[in-house]
Amino acid sequence: MLHAAFDIPYKKYKDAAELSQDDQKIIHESRRLASLAYAPYSGFKVASVAQTIDGIFIHGTNQENASYPIGLCAERVMLATISSIASDAIIKTICISYISEKQSTAVPIAPCGICRQSLVEFESRFNEPIRLLLTGQSGEIFEFDSVSDLLPMAFKKKNLIN
Ligand code: THU
Repeated sequence: MLHAAFDIPYKKYKDAAELSQDDQKIIHESRRLASLAYAPYSGFKVASVAQTIDGIFIHGTNQENASYPIGLCAERVMLATISSIASDAIIKTICISYISEKQSTAVPIAPCGICRQSLVEFESRFNEPIRLLLTGQSGEIFEFDSVSDLLPMAFKKKNLIN
């Protein structure tokens, strides 16, 4: 018997000023975008912004529905948009932020499990690591070198081939 464990490496910054000018731009963009989400049921507005290697921003926000289960997370709205309008774009960085009617937004949130799986699929598609920045409207920022770091032992295309 062998005990095995995964280590999830990430960096923590006290605030955006500790990051590069480029990162500050995408952080600012995702914080701003959160107010445009459609989240009348949860009051929890999420924004996901991708920056391509050419410096273009592509946006997504959560889209809720009176039929609750069909609501869409910001990350998957963004990924579907990228795949539809710029399917060959290489994504360098994704930044996720949020606004909540009910709680402080100074603490970063991490993508839900379904979105992690979708992000990993996107990364595998282009075989290039996608950096991930997580933040609220202010305060700490978490940085992951690859979206895959958030989903150890992900289910991948290669698992389907035998
Ligand atoms: N939400 C996202 O957009 N992304 C996540 O990773 C977590 C949750 C949305 C879904 C729902 O509209 C609201 O946040 C509350 O769960």
